Amino acid sequence: MKKVLVLYYSQSGQMKRMVDSVTAPLKESSEVKVDFRKIKPVKKYPYPWPFYPFFDAFPEAIYMNGCEVEVLKDVEDEYDLIILGYTIWFLSPSIPVTGFMQSAQAKRLFKDKPVVTLIACRDMWVMAQEKMKKLLSDVGATLIDNVVLTDQGGSIYAFITTPRWLLTGKKDPFWGFPAAGVSDEDLKNSRRFGERLFEGLQKDEEQKKVPMLKNMGAVTVNGKLVATEKIATRSFMVWGKLIQAAGVPGSFARKIVITVYAVFLATLVLTIVPLNILVRRLIYPFRKNAIEKSVKYYEKPSGR
Ligand SMILES: Cc1cc2nc3c(=O)[nH]c(=O)nc-3n(C[C@H](O)[C@H](O)[C@H](O)COP(=O)(O)O)c2cc1C
Repeated sequence: MKKVLVLYYSQSGQMKRMVDSVTAPLKESSEVKVDFRKIKPVKKYPYPWPFYPFFDAFPEAIYMNGCEVEVLKDVEDEYDLIILGYTIWFLSPSIPVTGFMQSAQAKRLFKDKPVVTLIACRDMWVMAQEKMKKLLSDVGATLIDNVVLTDQGGSIYAFITTPRWLLTGKKDPFWGFPAAGVSDEDLKNSRRFGERLFEGLQKDEEQKKVPMLKNMGAVTVNGKLVATEKIATRSFMVWGKLIQAAGVPGSFARKIVITVYAVFLATLVLTIVPLNILVRRLIYPFRKNAIEKSVKYYEKPSGR
């Protein structure tokens, strides 16, 4: 019998729905033992997020400081495959998942194991997955596949619908904007990845530590967004340092810098981001080859 460990962290339940859908074919089979565990930070993060705690999480997320997490109970010593469902916080893996990956327990569980990552996020995950690759290699694991679902309606709408959802808990469509989050259809259809993983496990494919989910549309990288993510990461590093220098999380001094940062970010989103999208569209024909090459790289291991 194959043993699969499924780990996830989800606040609204969306990431959990993706994990449930993908792993359903494994759970339905009597030939696979699936241990399903939620990563739990010792100090809980709020949802919906009040304004200041939301931005207060930003420096620790971008600098991968992690947080203390509860030790997972009743887990086996060895698994054939680990499936890790994680969301993105400020272009980085969420703080609780980073905290878990830095724990002594993760070092033991992940050592020499093939890992499939599942991501459900707004639509900027490429830099975070690079950080996840590093976290996985630090614990001696091998990333064999990655599946990504992004919020419905596209980048521009999600700039409004996702923050509204995270700060108020409201996901419904409004004023011509689509509903927030990943579409029900995408979540439901992600079951097909679990069917393929089940087939692969039956043939011991996970032991080869090569991708099982290639050519299934598991990952689509938007080449025009990669440059935006790189620029945003650089800006986040600078602002993250400034906010951290102002004081400890929750302090008044930090709130002042966060207020300045939030105004800066809103201005950026309303001016530079649309301008950047326009410029990237214009220069795309000249940068086509380089962009396509980087798309291929970031779509690995499970592209097309
Ligand atoms: C603090 C915070 C920062 C986020 N930053 C990003 C981001 O940089 N890129 C992105 O695509 N989504 C981002 N999201 C959206 C999440 O990845 C995710 O879609 C959302 O939080 C719902 O996940 P849940 O299953 O935990 O409810 C952010 C969410 C939070 C709470």
